Amino acid sequence: MSSNNEKKSGLDRPVSRRGLLGGLAASGGVAAGLFAGRANAAQPDPLITDIQDWNRYLGDGVDSRPYGSPSEFESHVVRRDVSWLTADATSSVNFTPLHALDGIITPNGLCFERHHGGIAEINPADHRLMIHGMVDKPLVFTMQDLMRFPRENRVYFLECAANSGMEWRGAQLNGCQYTHGMVHNVMYTGIPLKLLLEEAGIKEGARWLLPEGADASAMTRSVPLEKGLEDCLVAFKMNGEALRPEQGYPLRLVVPGWEGNMWVKWLRRIEVGDQPWHQREETSKYTDLLANGKARRFTWAMDVKSVITNPSPQAPIMHGRGQTIITGLAWSGAGKINRVDVSIDGGRNWQTARLNGPSLDKSLHRFYYDFDWDGSDLLIQSRAIDEAGFVQPTKKELRAARGENSIYHNNGIQTWHVKADGSAENVEVS
Ligand code: MTE
Ligand code: CO
Repeated sequence: MSSNNEKKSGLDRPVSRRGLLGGLAASGGVAAGLFAGRANAAQPDPLITDIQDWNRYLGDGVDSRPYGSPSEFESHVVRRDVSWLTADATSSVNFTPLHALDGIITPNGLCFERHHGGIAEINPADHRLMIHGMVDKPLVFTMQDLMRFPRENRVYFLECAANSGMEWRGAQLNGCQYTHGMVHNVMYTGIPLKLLLEEAGIKEGARWLLPEGADASAMTRSVPLEKGLEDCLVAFKMNGEALRPEQGYPLRLVVPGWEGNMWVKWLRRIEVGDQPWHQREETSKYTDLLANGKARRFTWAMDVKSVITNPSPQAPIMHGRGQTIITGLAWSGAGKINRVDVSIDGGRNWQTARLNGPSLDKSLHRFYYDFDWDGSDLLIQSRAIDEAGFVQPTKKELRAARGENSIYHNNGIQTWHVKADGSAENVEVS
């Protein structure tokens, strides 16, 4: 995949709200009259009056697409990377095109990918899962062994702790795909980890788990045993079909609500122990360096967060002023989303958005805000509140608490500046 986004030099520093609002009155009204409805057009519309090819000729038969793909007219809806984030030709992260999706489920082929050692290609017949350490009887499971255990279907978001990480020091990337696209939301079919641990028998004094991946990075993270027993899954299906290779085929750990790095892909081993292992991914990485030089560690849960996906820099308003829909996504590692507020004036006034679709624990929630756009400049924002009462902070509040050193756990409120022509840009209000 080629790179599609460049660092925006002009947006490194926050734009002041005063400056932006000052420009509103002057530029408002530019789009007036540009979008007259078809019904008023003087010329007849050949798309209505003429018979089109697709209406005249037989289409392809059922044998032409044994595994279906999207329409050719949707070929722009793909995962994309950011060139300057990548050290060599093979990118190690790409982003979900959130601006092109609706509802709450991420299609399998569009789930962002993050791998530290490339995609392991594993024949399920050759895959093994070992559970050992502080257990009564160490066990090795084949994929077929796992098929005997009761399984469950659950929808969860996975967010990389580094999602929005490039925005800690100011507005930078022009598109919610790049600022917020390290999140996906999938229905997993998997075995509660509890059942596999009980099969092995947990020894007294055990407190921690160390899942390990079979890929070249052999990723490991210390996970509290309590979390493993509470809601973790050993998953083999996503959205009904086998996991995709890039998502850990044939087996991955699901750690609901917690940072994506702990969701070990190509899961091949779980060690049971009485203390954390302090691996690379929980010491030099995935810790949050504060302004005073101390670091937060074991920051597992993902904080309450939301983003407006439309309009946004990659998805301008195309239909002109009048009835307009703002939509976006909200999620929280603490549970369900209770409410999302939307502002169109940079956070001075807030309206309650309409949540729609299933409201599931630790899943993406879809919100809509319908309003009558007068064609003037907007500073649109969303603010999520979860069922535990956590409120998404402004970027200013976040920086006051955490400084600007971190790359992880940026859940600050995002602002898009929508201009009179419907285009949108990533900005910050101060
Ligand atoms: N597991 C293994 N074995 N190897 C990896 O590189 N990357 C982790 C995690 N699990 C990784 C892994 C990180 S940092 C994240 S954010 C998620 O997988 C990404 O999951 P995804 O590729 O399905 O989006
Ligand atoms: Co990650």
